[in-house]
Amino acid sequence: MSERVLSGRVVLVTGASRGIGRATALELAGMGANVFGTSRTEDGVKDIAEMLAPFGGGAIQLDLLDRESFQDRLDTVAQGAGAAASILVHNGGITLDAPFLAMHPGRFDGVMDTNVRGPFELTRRWVSGFGKACPADARAIFISSIVGIDGNPGQANYGASKAALNSLVRTLASELGGYKPERWNGTVNGIAPGFIQTAMTDGLKDEIVQTVVERTASRRLGTPEDVARVVGFLALPASDFINGQVFRVDGGIRL
Ligand SMILES: NC(=O)c1ccc[n+]([C@@H]2O[C@H](COP(=O)([O-])OP(=O)(O)OC[C@H]3O[C@@H](n4cnc5c(N)ncnc54)[C@H](O)[C@@H]3O)[C@@H](O)[C@H]2O)c1
Repeated sequence: MSERVLSGRVVLVTGASRGIGRATALELAGMGANVFGTSRTEDGVKDIAEMLAPFGGGAIQLDLLDRESFQDRLDTVAQGAGAAASILVHNGGITLDAPFLAMHPGRFDGVMDTNVRGPFELTRRWVSGFGKACPADARAIFISSIVGIDGNPGQANYGASKAALNSLVRTLASELGGYKPERWNGTVNGIAPGFIQTAMTDGLKDEIVQTVVERTASRRLGTPEDVARVVGFLALPASDFINGQVFRVDGGIRL
């Protein structure tokens, strides 16, 4: 999108150094937003800062497992931008796949802590931080997965985590919608991507990729930009009657 339709908006995108998060940060920055991207590592922070330099915005270090740091990071964004983030894109997430019976409890906890508990607590801090001054057209956008809807063998932990996010989307939209506009004035939505070409899917065997492509109506894997453009659409003020929804962006896959 070339118009600066998000001019004046402050955005926080978690996990923005690569993949879907990177494409999303670029998409929203290209729409005129003041985007802050997060990474766990110093190298990632440096990469994001370089990527966003032509647009303004910036990069901050954030680990979704370090919940104690969330308030500080939200404050850092508000100080850097001159206003609190009004759009929060929960993109950071992990897979720790294993067959169900062989899945070590640590793999379950690790995925739930990163994919659910982190975004859950970050959203709580973010919304409560508005106090009585929630910006208009606030947006919470969660990157979920079709695995949270359809399931997928070997991903019982990941599927459960993304199903939890889908429920969080609907619950938060409804619960926050009951707040006075000074405390919450926006929407909560999710995107459930199918198979997208990123580091997360790089390790898939060729025959699995082939099967996925054959079962996808669009006959290809998705790109990070396919997802980022939908984030851009949901971020628009004009999307304000779309609320509590989780959109599949999967090329029409039938597993
Ligand atoms: N690639 C796919 O096919 C696909 C499909 C459906 C959903 N998704 C979801 O999209 C999102 C982005 O994934 P991707 O495909 O770009 O893969 P990716 O592995 O390239 O990106 C994941 C991002 O999350 C960050 N991250 C991981 N653990 C973190 C933590 N503890 N704290 C902060 N950040 C952390 C990583 O640093 C990275 O930037 C994830 O939530 C993933 O579950 C991906």
